[in-house]
Amino acid sequence: MAILPILKYPDPGLREISEVVTVFDEELKILAADMGQTMVGAPGAGLAAPQVGCLKRLIVIAGAENDEDFDERVLTLVNPRIIWFGGEQVSDEGCLSVTDLHEKVIRAKEVEVAAQDISGAPLSLQADGRRAVILQHEIDHLDGVLFLDRLSQLKRDIYKRKLKKMLKEDSGD
Ligand code: NI
Repeated sequence: MAILPILKYPDPGLREISEVVTVFDEELKILAADMGQTMVGAPGAGLAAPQVGCLKRLIVIAGAENDEDFDERVLTLVNPRIIWFGGEQVSDEGCLSVTDLHEKVIRAKEVEVAAQDISGAPLSLQADGRRAVILQHEIDHLDGVLFLDRLSQLKRDIYKRKLKKMLKEDSGD
């Protein structure tokens, strides 16, 4: 397994639409395993393939399918789609691709997701609370959407200015 480099906003790769996975081969398994290790090492609660420069509809999230095992394992979802949303919640989000930003985002409180496992077998899961947030956040990545896009224009502008300053300082200007 390997730790993969994570693309950082404003990398244009984060804005691409990822492709549906149709081939469930060894390469896909290696990608998922590497993404799991990268997420755990970051550390993060979820990671989407486009964040490591691979435009495939694949995400990994922390935790197993049942909540007792949460944080014990990495759950891999291929071609995940949200098929049902319920309620509303506001919670703090950050992203491994968005440096130094944590903001409150409004999301559905509960979701039902249809996906495939790493071998292509169909699976579905229901989630609420934090886990529902993570699923919505990661699935957004597959369509080139960042949590930043779900903030107010004002908050986005403030962050863009801050980032510009940070990047300038990094380059030694
Ligand atoms: Ni993210």
